[in-house]
Amino acid sequence: MRTVGVLLVLAAAAGCADGEERQGAPAPTWDDIALTPAKDLDPAPNAVAIELEARTAKKRYPTTRAATEVWAYDGRVPGPLIEAKVGDALAVRLTNLLPEATTVHWHGVRLPNAMDGVPHVQGPIEPGQSFDYAFTPEDAGLFWFHPHLRSDVQVEKGLYGALVVRGESEPKSDHEAILILDDVRVNADGTLPEHLDDEQLMLGRHGNLLLVNGQSRPELALRRGSLERWRLVNAANGRFFNLRLPGHTLQIIGTDGGLVPKPRGVERLLIAPGERYDVMFIAGGEPGESVTLWNDPYERGHGTGSDEPMVLATVRFGTEAPLEGRQLPGAFADIEQLPTAENDFQIELGEAFQGGDLVFTINGKTWPDVPPLMIAEGATKTLSVSNVSDMAHPFHLHGFFFQVLGQPLAWKDTVIVGGHSKLSLVARYDRPGHWMYHCHLLEHAEHGMMGEIHVE
Ligand code: C2O
Ligand code: CU
Repeated sequence: MRTVGVLLVLAAAAGCADGEERQGAPAPTWDDIALTPAKDLDPAPNAVAIELEARTAKKRYPTTRAATEVWAYDGRVPGPLIEAKVGDALAVRLTNLLPEATTVHWHGVRLPNAMDGVPHVQGPIEPGQSFDYAFTPEDAGLFWFHPHLRSDVQVEKGLYGALVVRGESEPKSDHEAILILDDVRVNADGTLPEHLDDEQLMLGRHGNLLLVNGQSRPELALRRGSLERWRLVNAANGRFFNLRLPGHTLQIIGTDGGLVPKPRGVERLLIAPGERYDVMFIAGGEPGESVTLWNDPYERGHGTGSDEPMVLATVRFGTEAPLEGRQLPGAFADIEQLPTAENDFQIELGEAFQGGDLVFTINGKTWPDVPPLMIAEGATKTLSVSNVSDMAHPFHLHGFFFQVLGQPLAWKDTVIVGGHSKLSLVARYDRPGHWMYHCHLLEHAEHGMMGEIHVE
C-alpha cells in the first residue's frame, strides 16, 4: 500500500510542473474571492427566498490554456452565498439546467426529512425541472449545500455553495471571512478528467490546484492587530486541509453545529471534507510583511503524511498603524451534554475488493444493500463507528448533530474516524425520517460507504 503514497507524490510533482501559475497575472484579493450573496426575492424581514439555477458554465483556472467547463449554481464556483437568520423562513427554488438529474443537500442543517435533498426521499430533479426547498434554520453556523446524486462527479465539477445562518449574538470581530476550500484536478487543456484510477478512488479525488472560494493562491491583506474571524468549510472530494499560518495560533471558536463553550488554540487547523471550523486570531506580523498560509500534509493512510506542504494563500500585513487592544473571546454559552447511553449501535467501516472492484463498506456491505439502523423517534443513542481500514474516513450524519465521546464538547455532523480506530457518537434522534450517514470522501460514499438511519 506504500506504492499509493509514492504515486501520489509523483502525481503532485507532475501537477506542479505543468501547473505553473500564469505569468504576470495579479493574485486574487479579498474582493476577488468574496462570495456573491444570493439575491433575496422576499422583502419580508424574516423570510428569505432564493432562486438557484444549476447549469454549465466556463471558468478559467490560472494553470490552463483554455477555460474549463464547470457545473455551477448560478454559473459560479462556488455558488452564491445564502444568508439567513435563525428562525427565518428560507425558501430555495432549484432549477436544474444540467444535462443530468441532481438534488440539493443542505449539509448540517437540521430540517424536515423531505427537504434533506437525498434522492430516495425527494426523487431526483430531472433536467428542466425545479424543486422547492423550504425550511427554517434552527441553528447559527456555517453550512453548505451540494448535490446528493453522483456527488463525486457533480461536486468536483463545481456544484457547492455556503449557507451562513446568523444567531442573535455573534462574536464581534474587525473582519469576517467565509472561506470555502477546495481543490480541482484540471488538465493543462482545461478539461476535468472523468476517469478515476484506483489511487484516486482509494484516497478520494485529489486536485492539482488548491482553491479558496474558487480562486488559486489569493493574497489576503490584513490590518495588523485586527481581530479576524474566519469561517471555513472543506468542499473538496478527497483532500484534507491542514492549515498553518506561521506566527499565529488559530483559536477554534466553533465547529459544524455552532459555537463551542470553550475555545481552544491550535497551531494547525485540520479540516476533513464536509467539516466546518470557525476560528479567530489577531493578525500579527511586521508592516508590509507577507506570510504563507500553508496546507501541510496530514497522514490519513497510504503515506499521505509525506506529501509536500502546499501554498494555499499569502497573507500580507498592512503598513498602517495596528489596531490596539483586541482580545480573543474567552468562553461562550454552555451546550447541553447529551447523556451517554450504552453503545446501542455499532457499524464498521471497511474496504474490500468485490468482483475485481475496490469498494468501501459498512458492516461488509455496500450502499444500497446496507440494512438501515432503526431508532425510535426522540431516543438518545450512541453509535459506535469502528474503522477497520488503513485510511481515515470522515463520517457524516444527516439531520442531527452528535457529540464525540472523549473529544472537546461540540456539536458535530462530520468527524474524522482514523484508520484502525473507533469513535462513539451520541445524538438525540428527534426528527422522523430516513437519514443518511456516509463517508464524506465522495468517491467512498459513491462506491458503497453509505447507510441509513430510520427514525420513526
Ligand atoms: Cu455533505 Cu450526505 O453530505
Ligand atoms: Cu472514506
